[in-house]
Amino acid sequence: MGIHVLGTGSYTPAFQVTNDDMAKIVETNDEWIRTRTGIGTRHISDGEPTWYMGAQAAKRAIETAGIDPGEIGLLIDTTITPEYSTPSMACIIQREVGASNAACFDLNAACSGFVYAMDTAHRFLQTDRTMRYALVVANESLSKITNYSDRSSCILFGDGAAAVVIEYREDALYTSYLGADGTGAKFLYAHSALPQSPFVKSEHLAAYDDQMGAGPEGWTHTMHQDGKEVYKFATHAMPKAAAMAAEKIGLSLDEIDKFVPHQANLRIIETAMKHLKQPMEKVVLNIEKHGNTSSASIPIAFDEAVRSGAIQRGEKVCLVGFGAGLTYAALIMEY
Ligand code: UT7
Repeated sequence: MGIHVLGTGSYTPAFQVTNDDMAKIVETNDEWIRTRTGIGTRHISDGEPTWYMGAQAAKRAIETAGIDPGEIGLLIDTTITPEYSTPSMACIIQREVGASNAACFDLNAACSGFVYAMDTAHRFLQTDRTMRYALVVANESLSKITNYSDRSSCILFGDGAAAVVIEYREDALYTSYLGADGTGAKFLYAHSALPQSPFVKSEHLAAYDDQMGAGPEGWTHTMHQDGKEVYKFATHAMPKAAAMAAEKIGLSLDEIDKFVPHQANLRIIETAMKHLKQPMEKVVLNIEKHGNTSSASIPIAFDEAVRSGAIQRGEKVCLVGFGAGLTYAALIMEY
């Protein structure tokens, strides 16, 4: 009762911002960023929209899968940086790739979004066998919501997109675990950029303080982060998700060939692997050249590993992430 990955694809902007470039914007340096995070450079959009990056990645995944886009029954897009509140990114990508028979919607689970979306797609394919293929896309322009005057967060983020075409396989190995802790919402958030309506009474607004820090008057569209709290959460949540997913089907973590973790911080990944008692040799890493691209981070790393041969057919792969919400998620499948 699992999934088979038919094709993967990714797209990252050609324009790059190195650590030395960051040092021209905020007081930082290459050595600090590399030691504390493992990041060397990041791809940043100098014009291409989030939807375009997603569509490019999706086209590559469809081409690799060698399928007719008309046979895609489901298209889920995951992003926290869409150009539009409506329509969904999924509908725009459907238009671009010609997946005219797909049900389309977006899903927001921040950096855990791709794993949430893959698991959602798995459940759709399992219960509606008329859907032959699902296309899962993750696309982010974190540069749109990065506060480039906050040196503790702006050095982390990059832009990019990736996509996967899957089909349902009765006999394939598959397990997952999805979790969230909304009490940690205040540790990592970005306000929507929506203005108040003319009917709003400011004295009423105060009654709806959402405990996220600055009240509505102080709203900015950029990300607020308590790095230390997120770090603490991540080092426990990622191993928990992977262990819970494996336990569901009585699989030993030692049987997993490759881990593809959310590329947020190399130190977080190393600590998580230590908790899982798994060697770093099993880990797919690309944080040095991409930084953190939120929901696109896991699938970009997955696509690169597949294309370079670092992940081979038949290997058991664990995709595992955490993010704003706070959310966390893992899935284990055979590639
Ligand atoms: O998708 C999820 C996204 N979020 C995350 O994954 C974030 C998780 N958290 C982290 O990765 C880390 O907490 C950070 C990388 C954000 C920060 O690393 P840290 O080791 O926790 O640093 P810190 O906040 O304890 O700061 C240590 C020092 C401070 O200076 P003082 O007070 O010791 O003098 C900071 O002001 O480093 C300073 N600092 C910097 N120095 C140079 C903070 N940012 C920078 C910087 N360059 N970019």
